[in-house]
Amino acid sequence: MTDLVTTTVKDGVMVVSLNRVDKKNALTQAMYDGLTAALNAASAQNEVKVLLLAGSNEVFCAGNDLEDFLTLKELSQDSPILRFLTTLVRFKKPLLAAVAGPAVGVGTTVLLHCDLVVADSQSRFQLPFVALGLCAEAGSSLLLAERVGQAKANEWLLTGKPFSAAEALQYGLINQVVDGQVVETGLAIAKQLATLPSGAMMATKALIRQPHQAKAEKAIFDEAEQFVKLLQGDECKAAIKAFFSRR
Ligand code: COA
Repeated sequence: MTDLVTTTVKDGVMVVSLNRVDKKNALTQAMYDGLTAALNAASAQNEVKVLLLAGSNEVFCAGNDLEDFLTLKELSQDSPILRFLTTLVRFKKPLLAAVAGPAVGVGTTVLLHCDLVVADSQSRFQLPFVALGLCAEAGSSLLLAERVGQAKANEWLLTGKPFSAAEALQYGLINQVVDGQVVETGLAIAKQLATLPSGAMMATKALIRQPHQAKAEKAIFDEAEQFVKLLQGDECKAAIKAFFSRR
């Protein structure tokens, strides 16, 4: 397992931390594998009642590593990204996220699979897929509208403009905004949830998620089909080149 994704377990909570701060926690293929392994370990371990996904108190996640995108030729069911997304969408225990700084691309869409999200007031969310010559992913073409309403989902996905923690809270993407120490706040909420009866917790999560499950999985695979075609296109290649030559 990569040391860019680490886990600790205490008081019924597994904290899954992204540790690639120098690259704003952009996710590589190895990091997706690390995340999948963490979710599977959390599912298997009885002592884990709740999972908290976090970066640091400054950076959550700048999305998929853009250099990695340039080498990605296919997205089969066995690819690290799709294995992570299918494991995530099927994850049965309560999943929390603590967001600070940038939450870009999958750094925002992963939140649609989280049951509770706390964010620092300075967080910046963004879904820049179209500007990158790409399309929605992680089920966001369906799940974002279900979460925040069609009008806002259209705006965030089609314009790709960044939005604040206050706006994310207003439209129900996240649950709570704090000023600093977001990881500690997320941990406190997770520990509180871990004290509640876990059978009832998981039954409730299943009831909330089940009506959307099959549709969400279909959206993930439909999106992946388009996404991988767009990745090979000139629009995407030019946008990624522009990002790396921006200085
Ligand atoms: N993939 C690869 N590298 C990335 C990255 C990504 N998604 N996001 C950031 N980095 C790297 C930068 O290239 C830079 O590397 P360097 O120090 O070697 O030059 C480093 O992380 C710091 O990023 P920087 O852009 O200097 O930080 P910032 O605070 O000015 O801006 C972001 C932060 C997240 C707003 C900006 O980095 C960004 O827009 N990243 C791309 C996000 C993106 O498009 N993700 C894919 C979505 S599908």
